[in-house]
Parts: sequence; structure tokens; C-alpha cells
Amino acid sequence: MESLAVTALLALISLTAALDNGLLKTPPMGWMAWERFRCDIDCKDDPENCISEDLFKRMAERLAEDGWKELGYEYVIIDDCWMSLLRDEQGRLQPEPSRFPGGIAQLARYIHDRGLKLGIYADMGTYTCMGFPGTTLEKIEIDAQTFASWGIDYLKFDGCYSNPVEQLLGYNMMSKALIATGRPIAYSCSWPVYVGGLPPNVNYTLLGDICHLWRNYYDIQDSWDSVQDIINWFSNNQDDLQPAAGPGRWNDPDMLIIGNFGLSVEQARSQMALWAIMAAPLIMSNDLRNLDNSARAILQNRVAIAINQDPMGIQGRRLLQEKSHIEVYWRPLSHSASTLVFLSRRTDMPYLYHTSLAKLNYEAGNYEAYDVFTGSTVTGLNANTEFTLSINPSGVVMWYIYPEQQSKDTETLYYHQHKTASQFTFHRAKPGHHTVL
Ligand SMILES: *[C@@H]1O[C@H](CO)[C@@H](O)[C@H](O)[C@H]1NC(C)=O
Repeated sequence: MESLAVTALLALISLTAALDNGLLKTPPMGWMAWERFRCDIDCKDDPENCISEDLFKRMAERLAEDGWKELGYEYVIIDDCWMSLLRDEQGRLQPEPSRFPGGIAQLARYIHDRGLKLGIYADMGTYTCMGFPGTTLEKIEIDAQTFASWGIDYLKFDGCYSNPVEQLLGYNMMSKALIATGRPIAYSCSWPVYVGGLPPNVNYTLLGDICHLWRNYYDIQDSWDSVQDIINWFSNNQDDLQPAAGPGRWNDPDMLIIGNFGLSVEQARSQMALWAIMAAPLIMSNDLRNLDNSARAILQNRVAIAINQDPMGIQGRRLLQEKSHIEVYWRPLSHSASTLVFLSRRTDMPYLYHTSLAKLNYEAGNYEAYDVFTGSTVTGLNANTEFTLSINPSGVVMWYIYPEQQSKDTETLYYHQHKTASQFTFHRAKPGHHTVL
């Protein structure tokens, strides 16, 4: 019984690598190669898109020059397929020289020079998922040292080609090895995916002690089906997952695929909204050189980002699944604010949903709501005010809600973020077409 062995080991080994080193007090934001560029190593026929130092430099330029960095998108993360098939004479991992001729340290300097951070990928096991050299237990220390010596800021540690006992030891050992380098390196653990994602196989207390974030569930694909499958799994298991999250410890439902081929504009808004509810990492995997304006506007929506990055770091929950196939999600935020997301799973036409804040457990009082994707503000909302929303098929209405008194005190609302003190002006617009009071 594999799981018995794991439980026994868990009781025996000392797991004291507290990773509370101040990193990722809010969910990480950035860009990662995998979902869009996969293991494309064909630089001869596909030089613009193959996994190479050029790809990461070009994406870093876009992050730095197109307004992403100022919004918090700061990590450029290499995924699988960057390595040479052979370690060097000292046993260290090395990049494939034809695709990374300058080496990773030079790439890190290029990225740091633009005010960004560099992430890299390794695998706890014999091979990476795509068959490149793995990090077996005896290689953990040297690989952590190598990454630190290159100036790496973030490690995604995958779990292909290992068993649960090796994973239990290895994910702990890597946590300690990263701390021992003295370099602050954010640590993303894929461990839960490989053991089913849920207790009792996953101990989220332990995971939060050793990792900054973790992948709980299968890889995202470029489709609305995949996004829905992830939302369903996270919501169905929210009693186990939601309490695990907090500053410095995040569930990771995987990359944002907005800007690729699989999502409509409505569905892209839905992914952004639900990832904000879930306090999920905002790590895009798309081609920043070719983004249409609607994808850019969704990914750069300041209020959606601020909600995602709320400093309290409380993950939200699904409140309701209606027979009408409307779902309501809620997340509490700083400054007595909150967010509500109304998601339609319908496939027919915009649905008129009738509710009130009181029906959604809000306390008596007067509120205002800012519609995150239309930019309109709804004033004069009492908890008992009945209102009607029009929710598009596979789309959302996303509200940022705050007590009315707060808006009387000041026309602007300040979010205290670790990255930027963003400021949002709430326009006193009439309710938009989405909202009928
Ligand atoms: C989970 O891990 C924590 C921290 O290491 C430990 O205190 C606790 O006993 C573990 N829980 C279970 C059920 O093993």
C-alpha cells in the first residue's frame, strides 16, 4: 500500500522547512511557455516559436514594453524542454546549447535588466515529463545550487517518473535546498497532481509549509471544456482546497489561456473572473506578440487583477448552483469589500437572473457595485434590493461590491498591493445594459 508508506514516512521525517520567506504574499503573475508553446524544439522550421532563449527574450520585451509589468505580470517562466539531454561533467543540468547559446545566467540578466524575474522547470524524478534529465533525490542539492547560481527566481518542480515515496522526500528536500541557496526562489510544486490532488493523499498544511504554490489538478488545454472542467473540480472540492490558500501559499488551477484559440470573449472573461475568485496565479500562456485587443483588455483589467491580488489572500467559493445553470461565486476582500461572479453554463441566450444581496448572504446595509467588465457602477443597492442581471451564455457578470459609506468618504479606492499601489476611479455612470435595478 503506497499511501500507507507515505503516511508512515510523513510521521517520521522532520518537515521543518518553513518557507515563509516573504515571497508570493499575493498570487504570482507572469507568463509561462507551456500551454501555448509546449515542447516545440524545432528551431529550424519554427524559429519564432521554438523553446529557445529568443522566445523568452521576446516575451520579456513584450511584458516590459506593453504595460504588463506595471500591472504585476513579472515572472517569465521556462517550462519543460529547455535542457540538454546530458548533464555536464560536474553533473549539473545545462541548457540545450543550440537553442540557448548564451546560457541561462545570461538570459536571467537580460530578464532582470527589464525589471522582470525568471522562472525555470525541473522534475522530481528520473526524467522530465518530456524525457529530459530528471532531478532524482541525489541531484536535488546540485540542481538547486545551479538554479541559484544562474539567478533563477522561480522553480516549477514537476513530478513525472517518480513514486509517492520519492515525491514526499523530494519535494521536501527541494524546499530545503532552495532555502539553503540563500536566494529567494518561489517554489511551485506539482506534487498534488501526482497523488490525486485531495486529502488524505495530499496534506495541504504540509504543502503550504514547503511550497509557495502547487498544481492540484490536470494541465489546462486550449478549450472552454478544459476551463470548465478545472472550475468544476476546484469548486466541487472547495472544502478541502479553499482553506489551504493564503498569503505565500496558493492553489494553482494552471495557466491563463486567454489570447489563444479556444475561448470566446465571454469565455475569456469567465476564466479571468474565476481565476480572480480562486486567488489563482495569473500566469498567461499565450503569444504576447500577437494578442487581439479584447484578450489584452481582459488580461489587463485593473480591477480584476486587484481582486485577484487582494492582500487578505482569502480564496473565494462557489455559493450557489441554480437549476437554471447559473452559478454564483463569492470572495471576501479587504476594506469590507467583496466580489461576486455570476457564471452562466447555458448555451442558449442571455439569461435574466433575479436575486438580491441578502439572498447571497450579505448583511443589511447599503452597497455599491462596480461591474468589472463593463465599467459601470450600480448605486443605491440595499441588501434587500431585488435586481436582475443579464448573463451571456458561457459568460459572467463580475461585481466588485463595497459599502456605500466607503464611496462617500472618497471617490477613489486604494488597493495596497505588494507590487503597485494601484488606484481605481469609480465612474458615477448610470447602470449599464447588464444591470436593471
Ligand atoms: C499534515 O502536515 C502537518 C505539518 O507538517 C502535520 O502537523 C499534520 O500532522 C499532517 N496531517 C496529517 C493528517 O498527516
